[in-house]
Amino acid sequence: MIADRGMGEPISLGAALAAGKKVPPDVTDLLAEDHETVLGWFDWYEAADNRTLKKRITQKICTALRAHMAAEEEIFYPEASRTSRDEELVQRALQEHRAAQGLIDRLEKARSVDAEHADLMRELRAEIEAHIDEEENQLFPEVLQSEMDRYAVGAAVAARRVDRMLELVAPRSTKAKSEQNVREYPVMQISKDVARHYFIMGLKNAHATAKNGRKMVELQIDRLERYPRLKEKLESHLREKDEQLERIERILEKQGEKPSAIKDAAMTLMANLSSATNAATGDEVLKNSFATLGLAKAEAAAFETLILFGQAAGADDALQPLQKCLSEERAMAAFIEDNLRGTGMGFLQLESQG
Ligand SMILES: [Fe+2]
Ligand SMILES: [Fe+2]
Repeated sequence: MIADRGMGEPISLGAALAAGKKVPPDVTDLLAEDHETVLGWFDWYEAADNRTLKKRITQKICTALRAHMAAEEEIFYPEASRTSRDEELVQRALQEHRAAQGLIDRLEKARSVDAEHADLMRELRAEIEAHIDEEENQLFPEVLQSEMDRYAVGAAVAARRVDRMLELVAPRSTKAKSEQNVREYPVMQISKDVARHYFIMGLKNAHATAKNGRKMVELQIDRLERYPRLKEKLESHLREKDEQLERIERILEKQGEKPSAIKDAAMTLMANLSSATNAATGDEVLKNSFATLGLAKAEAAAFETLILFGQAAGADDALQPLQKCLSEERAMAAFIEDNLRGTGMGFLQLESQG
């Protein structure tokens, strides 16, 4: 467990990173947690009964291992050899990484999931298990005895791992990625025209929803004097909302389209109505938090789908701005979630004082 919910800290590392908070995990816990996860995925691979799923699990394992090993090699191992002074253990670990990487390369190049694939996976699993055993039973105990600041190193490793993971799954070029994705799920041929149709429709909906979100945030801000942290976050989110609207408008314009005035108006009306309803009750701040959380999650889901539709429609230059919108909404949802207890506590205290 990385953070303690009871202390009002982020409940997951993902939430912490998304919210820009620094809750450094102990690096040995973080790495051990990775080990456990990836071993679970090997079980999953073995139990999977179809090739498509096996292939996807393989990719998941390979990506996770590459990111994990990169963070270890670039940050954890150099720190470990500096502080524990056991250069030999680290050198051996590096050699084991090379061996595992060779197998990962072969697995990623494998055309089909056949007996040879299964053998390679078994071999990789054995390599990784032996390596984990050494790390957890020899290297980690040395690190625990050393003067390493395990929390500072944990923060750096967590950040590098996420970074590397993004590099690995992000497009080499957006075009190549989009073509690769279309090829990757060829259950049935996807029509570019159909994708474009739903991409445009989704963009118009997202524009209207962003307007709704903006209005909801705007109507809350003035009444949050006694919740300064929340107020500050919502003010910055208001600016993000303006930028999101502009981004969506630019994408639509590029497609020769513009936002739907009717949808925008309908959603703004909804924001006004729900804010007025919440304002009429005593626990307005809580109801607004719930509504904002729900909306941020819904918007994140919509942006995620829009990115997919954009790829299928070949709208390459729309992907990055949409990704930015997605990250902003995820961060907003993580912030509200992390602060629910604080907001609730503040509410009870203020109410208790009349
Ligand atoms: Fe490891
Ligand atoms: Fe390792």
